[in-house]
Amino acid sequence: MSHNTQKKSVIAVVGAGPGIGEAVARRFVAEGFVVALLARTEDKLQTIAQGIEADFGKSTARYYITDLRIEQQVISSFTSIRAELGPVEVLVYNAGARRVNGRSILDTTTEEFENFTKINLFGAFRSSKCVLPDMLAAKHGTIIFTGAPGSLRGMPGLSSFSPGKFGLRSLAQIITREYQSKGVHVAHLIVDGPVDGKLIGSVTRRKWEREGEEEKLNEVDVYILQPTDMAKIYWFLHTQSRSAWTQELDVRAQKETMLSKL
Ligand SMILES: NC(=O)c1ccc[n+]([C@@H]2O[C@H](COP(=O)([O-])OP(=O)(O)OC[C@H]3O[C@@H](n4cnc5c(N)ncnc54)[C@H](OP(=O)(O)O)[C@@H]3O)[C@@H](O)[C@H]2O)c1
Repeated sequence: MSHNTQKKSVIAVVGAGPGIGEAVARRFVAEGFVVALLARTEDKLQTIAQGIEADFGKSTARYYITDLRIEQQVISSFTSIRAELGPVEVLVYNAGARRVNGRSILDTTTEEFENFTKINLFGAFRSSKCVLPDMLAAKHGTIIFTGAPGSLRGMPGLSSFSPGKFGLRSLAQIITREYQSKGVHVAHLIVDGPVDGKLIGSVTRRKWEREGEEEKLNEVDVYILQPTDMAKIYWFLHTQSRSAWTQELDVRAQKETMLSKL
């Protein structure tokens, strides 16, 4: 625990980008946690970790470069987290990936199907196996998986995405039934609409600018989910009383946009 001398509770945000991942990390750190951030791109991880440390103090965030498609990297990162920060109390599996423009199954290669499914599902399986033993030993822990509209509905073009997300939902239910009674709270959070992150947020804003949609530009939060508002829900799930644990929850913006019509 050389990097967590105050023995703070540890959250691992797996799939830590500038959207939901960073917002969740910041929320938990604000509540006294130390965060382990996992993703592939070092400069993005560094920016997020440095920003958190600048706002919340030294040694509040540490990053671990990990490609979730490679099991050995996942195991190695969680081994380092345990050694450097201590056992993980909260696992948020937030990684998810898909083609921006969907492809029919006939145009989807096995390689593409496998690639996305490794991110959307296999990484969650492996990450959960890394943290569960310590959670069971502590009789306490929270695992939250981030879902999407494609977790519940199969739609044209999503053959390399939805099966993994459906599987993730199933995995959340299975871990719940296997370990909830032993103190592990597992929740599947369906994000039923676009999130105001770097990609979708800026694409949507540019579209609204082109179309002169002033009302939408002035009230973005009415139309697209805000990462900081999402982060409140992850915190809410983690802090629920054990007599009332949510297993699944869905959220969308007040005036739903295209994703929720899938
Ligand atoms: N954005 C939306 O509009 C939206 C809508 C509905 C649901 N969701 C769900 O929300 C979650 C993502 O939240 P977000 O969009 O706000 O993203 P985010 O938290 O900004 O970033 C997620 C991060 O996951 C990382 N990642 C992807 N593939 C990875 C891999 N193979 N190994 C390690 N890390 C990987 C990426 O970083 P690297 O590229 O650096 O690895 C990415 O920055 C996903 O589960 C997604 O399905 C998003």
